[in-house]
Amino acid sequence: MAMEETLPPMGVHGMGHKIRRKEDMRFLTGKGTYVDDIKLPNMAYLVFVRSPYAHAKIKKINIEKAKSIPGVIDIITGEELEKAGLAWIPTLMGDKMMVLPTDKVVFQGQEIAAVIAEDKYVAMDAANQIEVEYEPLEPVVDPKKALEPNSPLVRPDKNSNLVFRWEAGNKELTDKVFKEADIVVSQDFYYQRLHVAYMEPVGSVAQYDPVSGKLTLWMTTQAPHVVRTVFSLVTKIPENKIRIISPDIGGGFGGKVYVYPGYVVSAYASIKLGRPVKWINTRSEDMKSTAFARDFHIHGELAAKKDGTILGLRIKVISDHGAFYGDANPSKFPAGLFSICTGAYDIKAAYVEVTGAYTNKPAGGIAYRCSFRVTEAVYTIERLVDILAHELNMDPAELRLKNFIPPERFPYKSALGWTYDSGNYAAALKKAMEKIGYYELRKEQEEKRKKGEIMGIGISTFVEIVGAGPADLFDIVGIKMFDSAEIRIHPTGKVIARFGTRAQGQGHETTYAQIISEILGIPVEDIIVEEGDTDTCPYGLGTYASRSTPTAGAAAAVSARKILDKAKKIAAHLLEAREEDIVFEKGKFYVKGYPDKYKTIQDVALAAYTNPPPNMEAGLEAVTYYNPPNMTFPFGAYICVVDIDKGTGQVKVRRFVAVDDCGNIINPVIVDGQIMGGLTMGFGTAFMEEIKYDENGNIYGGSFAEYLIPTAVETPKWELDKTVTPSPHHPLGAKGVGESATVGSPAAFVNAVVDALWHLGVKHIDMPIWPWKVWKVLKEKGVAS
Ligand code: CDP
Repeated sequence: MAMEETLPPMGVHGMGHKIRRKEDMRFLTGKGTYVDDIKLPNMAYLVFVRSPYAHAKIKKINIEKAKSIPGVIDIITGEELEKAGLAWIPTLMGDKMMVLPTDKVVFQGQEIAAVIAEDKYVAMDAANQIEVEYEPLEPVVDPKKALEPNSPLVRPDKNSNLVFRWEAGNKELTDKVFKEADIVVSQDFYYQRLHVAYMEPVGSVAQYDPVSGKLTLWMTTQAPHVVRTVFSLVTKIPENKIRIISPDIGGGFGGKVYVYPGYVVSAYASIKLGRPVKWINTRSEDMKSTAFARDFHIHGELAAKKDGTILGLRIKVISDHGAFYGDANPSKFPAGLFSICTGAYDIKAAYVEVTGAYTNKPAGGIAYRCSFRVTEAVYTIERLVDILAHELNMDPAELRLKNFIPPERFPYKSALGWTYDSGNYAAALKKAMEKIGYYELRKEQEEKRKKGEIMGIGISTFVEIVGAGPADLFDIVGIKMFDSAEIRIHPTGKVIARFGTRAQGQGHETTYAQIISEILGIPVEDIIVEEGDTDTCPYGLGTYASRSTPTAGAAAAVSARKILDKAKKIAAHLLEAREEDIVFEKGKFYVKGYPDKYKTIQDVALAAYTNPPPNMEAGLEAVTYYNPPNMTFPFGAYICVVDIDKGTGQVKVRRFVAVDDCGNIINPVIVDGQIMGGLTMGFGTAFMEEIKYDENGNIYGGSFAEYLIPTAVETPKWELDKTVTPSPHHPLGAKGVGESATVGSPAAFVNAVVDALWHLGVKHIDMPIWPWKVWKVLKEKGVAS
């Protein structure tokens, strides 16, 4: 109701307007079309048999019993796919992955055989009747042990479990500043393995038309164009005969960039059987087998002077990638953008080393609501800075203010090679401190400590790096990371705009329309935004890593400006004036000094088709493939206050203030929604979520009964605010924001908990900070009640 009152109606609403999301009518009334809503005549259903072992030889797959069940159409195994050249396919990171195994399984829950039946339940029953004889092999669960020379091998096609070894920065200089430093703090952190708990599990519907030879795939993918290209290269089906449609997607967060075996097998089965084939994971299949996030074992060190001036940063990481290196990192960055780990601070020397290991787990390493590992980077530096402050007995806010990159130093080149576009970190932190009453809280904490009560204040002043390209630095399987927007204005002034990105809940139908409305003065309700159909949309790299606004959003602005240039010429023709004399304002063209005699953008659109100037092509449209000159660097200051119960170890988040800066804002309501959602995910990471394995590679937490995600009951109240530091290179001064809060918040929560317990001698607690972990510490320190 409150929203109803505050939000203006639609109309000519460009940047900065709080309009209601255009797509919400569809979503809120249950009228969205998700992959599982696709129902085609004669459609068959595909269900997988999955491995109970993490590592085992397949001795025999007995399909006879299952095949005889009425309603079973076919059973596909790795052996058959091998003959078709599809048992293995390339990953988006240049590795290979099994579609279905031929001789051994490499993680628990791995797809082994596909049953295709008339109905989903028959397929499930038949899958249970498939007998697989296994010979268990020693599983590789610990990534550190995986890298030891005598470790069993995860992959049949490799002679070690090493995925990559990657370094960035100047080792000698960093070692030198560490030697010269007054103080060095160091800490091991484990950024736990997480499941990307989107609402809609992954799935596909494949429809092959034997007459035209065209394969249409409805797919839960965040990057339909790239998947089409890879599919075409692998299957040799001409790319123009593959159409991938990402319909509405119920959350992706990076988990739907990965190419799953189900996509491939459903396509193969549809071609083989000449019928549409649907595959949809169940929730528990999804939790056990889809791509995971994080799983970084980090050793971080920070060197500083006595006065708190930070001199150097040194980090060593072992990264667990499961059985396949399936991340969608740009190929030049095997550990993604982890080298943004110097954060908001002016650090003169830094060195980072990341080693990737294969283990007997599902492929991991995807960027979960994260720009390619920036989340792990932010967590590391923000934890280290807090530890340094405590070791030096300095206030963590004061230490940060002392070391921030000052505003006048932008564009700022970091020790690890990134050029930050713009920032004012002190302004954001000061705003957050004022809003939360920082110094009063510190006084309160002192008082409480005297009474034996436990309260903590945690800060995170994060910097993000979002919006990949630039194309010369960033690619996915060799395809340059640009993004696209095509805008067509019809004779009646109505618009269809198509993009290379694909929203999964971020509200692009509204915000892209606002960008076009801002530049062309056309009401947002007259602009239809389409994404996710490779037959109609211009080629793009997709939506992840908060890249849509910096890339496709920029492309929309450039396309709209190209159209405006042509529209001005047409307006000059209609107004019988020189183009230089034409003024454009709020959707109207007039001759300078004569605002009452005008032509609307709609008049101009009609003229583009009915009365264009002589020698001008008809039509009013433009397409742009935008290659950003740099990434955008959004940032923020988060402050969290916690109270800890000494009887249970329960951490209560009393307050959480988030000051975000994503440059110029397109839609403030959408941005707030993105931040609230991101903070809630960060809260889940800090306090609730983890996927764990036992020593045999058996998964714990393969359902929502064990893998806890926050509901409205646990979620704290978020207090939001903004500063605005435009990006100097983005056509609208905007930066991405979708993942800022997931990236920035976990460190604030953990810093608050450790701040509460530091005086008891606690330096670190790994996430998720479950109550029993805190209670154990309190008990050890003799303060549990
Ligand atoms: O790539 P993704 O859509 O996940 O992330 P994004 O570009 O950060 O955008 C998330 C949503 O916030 C989109 O609807 C954007 O248009 C909107 N946004 C905005 O209104 N203003 C900004 N400065 C940045 C994003």
